[in-house]
Amino acid sequence: MEKTFIMLKPDAVQRGLVGQIIGRFEAKGCKLVGMKLMNVDKALAEHHYAEHKGKGFFEPTVAYITSSPVVAMVWEGKNVVTIARELMGATNPASANPGSIRGSFGMDISRNVIHGSDSVASAEREIALYFKQEELCDYRKAGEEWLND
Ligand code: PPS
Repeated sequence: MEKTFIMLKPDAVQRGLVGQIIGRFEAKGCKLVGMKLMNVDKALAEHHYAEHKGKGFFEPTVAYITSSPVVAMVWEGKNVVTIARELMGATNPASANPGSIRGSFGMDISRNVIHGSDSVASAEREIALYFKQEELCDYRKAGEEWLND
């Protein structure tokens, strides 16, 4: 089953938005298979955002992500990478659909509340960066049979 990496950024934790955001993934029908509150160190943040090294927002983004704890999660489900991106909304909260997470809770691209993998390949890379295989749970969730045929 497809998996995606989701990170609730420091502003989500500091602003007390964790429960509401997780609730949206649960209500949609996504299955939580990994979760931890953690500090991201500079090396991990630079690795995560390596493709953006050299861009103007790279250093501020690393500083933001390392500034306070984040909630790192892995969610599972059919087409969950795309579904999570739709739940999150556009990267810039100023133009995100108001019903989306960024559209509901954010104001500015530099504090956009949540990260989600942009492809299945990115998800595999990011999950491996943040989680050991044994930290992910493989289980049957009540009601799964009512989400897909
Ligand atoms: S881009 O513009 O295509 O390179 O951006 P993208 O692939 O969507 O991801 C960029 C990540 O950096 C964060 N960030 C910004 N992006 C663009 N412009 C500014 N000013 C900026 N500031 C921060 C953006 O939120 C993306 O991080 P994630 O964690 O994926 O949301």
